[in-house]
Amino acid sequence: MIVTNEDRLACSVHLSDDGRSVIIIDQTQLPNRELFLTLDTVEELVDAIKTLAVRGAPAIGICAGYGMYILALQEETGSYETFTEHMEKYAEELIAARPTAVNLSWAVRRMMQAVYGSAGMEVSGIKELLRRECIAIHDEDIQMCRRISEYGLSLVKPGDGILTHCNAGPLATSRYGTALGPILLGKEQGIDFKVFSDETRPLLQGARLTSYELQKAGVDVTLICDNMASIVMKNGWVQACFVGCDRIAANGDFANKIGTSGVAILAKHYGIPFYTLGPTSTIDMNCPAGADIRIEQRNPDEIRSMWYKEPMALAEVKCYNPAFDVTDHELLTAIVTDRGIVYPPFDVNLKKLFA
Ligand code: MRU
Repeated sequence: MIVTNEDRLACSVHLSDDGRSVIIIDQTQLPNRELFLTLDTVEELVDAIKTLAVRGAPAIGICAGYGMYILALQEETGSYETFTEHMEKYAEELIAARPTAVNLSWAVRRMMQAVYGSAGMEVSGIKELLRRECIAIHDEDIQMCRRISEYGLSLVKPGDGILTHCNAGPLATSRYGTALGPILLGKEQGIDFKVFSDETRPLLQGARLTSYELQKAGVDVTLICDNMASIVMKNGWVQACFVGCDRIAANGDFANKIGTSGVAILAKHYGIPFYTLGPTSTIDMNCPAGADIRIEQRNPDEIRSMWYKEPMALAEVKCYNPAFDVTDHELLTAIVTDRGIVYPPFDVNLKKLFA
C-alpha cells in the first residue's frame, strides 16, 4: 500500500503546507464545528494533547512525532550537543502531557533515537532525518489501520450488531481507525453492520466523535448512554464488541477509555465476543500487566459541570475521574493487531508476535 500526501492530509493530524507547523482538527469542537488548530510551540502541542484537542492513542503519537520535527526546525544551533539537549527537553515535556497511551512516548522516543543515532552529523542533516521519521510514523499507522481493519472484518458477518466504546476511528488514528476500521472498510465493500456507540461519559467521545464519524460515513449507528449497553446486549442486538486500546501489557491486560472494562464484563455475561483492536505500537512488552499501567486522573469539572448549561453537581462535591480503566485479559476474546489476530494465551502469543 502506497501512502500519498493526500492520504496524510485527510487525517486528523498533519504537517502544514510549508512543513513548519502541525495542523490538527480540534476534536473538542466536534461535532458542532469543524475547526483546525495550527500548533507551533511545545506549549501549544502539550496543551492540545492535554485538552484532548488531539486525542486517541495513535493520533497523539503522530502529533508528537510531527511536533518533535517542527521544534527541531526552529533550533538555530549548529552544535549537536546543544541540539540534543533541547530535543531531550521537548521530548520530556511532550511525554509528560498524557501518561496512559504508550504511543505518545513510543513516537517521541523513536524521534529521539533518530537524534541519538546521528551523532557527528550536521544538525541540518538530522532535521531531514527527523522529517522522514515523523512521516514514517504516520505512514506506518495508516498501513497498520488498514491491516487491522481487514483482520477485524474477518471476525464479523454482514448485518451483525457491533458495540463500541469511546472513539477509535479515523479521528483517533489515521484513515480507517482501529475499532471502527472493520466497520468503515466493510462499508466500502458494501457490507453493512448495525453499530451501537456508547456515549462514553464524561467526555462523550462516543457521542461527539464516533456517532459523527459513522453517521457521516453512512453507517447504521445508534447512540446509547453507557448504562444502556446491558439492555442492547440482552435484547440480542450485539454480536461483537470492538474497542480500541491505549496500552496493551505483555499479559494481554489493556488500558482503554474508562468504562471499557464494564463493557467487557457485560459481554462475558451475555456470551458476546469482546475484541480490542490496536496497532503493534500500542503493545508495551516492557509493561508486565495491567496493574503496571499508569492511569491518568482528570479534572473533576469534567463530571460536575462540563457539557451542561448548568452544573450537574455541587462545585464542592468530591469526584473520582480516571480517564481509563484496565480490562483483564481473561475477559478478552482476542487482540486484533496489524500483524494478525492474537488469541489466548496472550502472554505466550504476544511474545511470538514480536519474535
Ligand atoms: O482520552 P481519549 O479520548 O484519548 O481516549 C481514547 C481511547 O480510549 C481510545 O479508545 C484509544 O486511544 C484507542 S484510539 C485508536
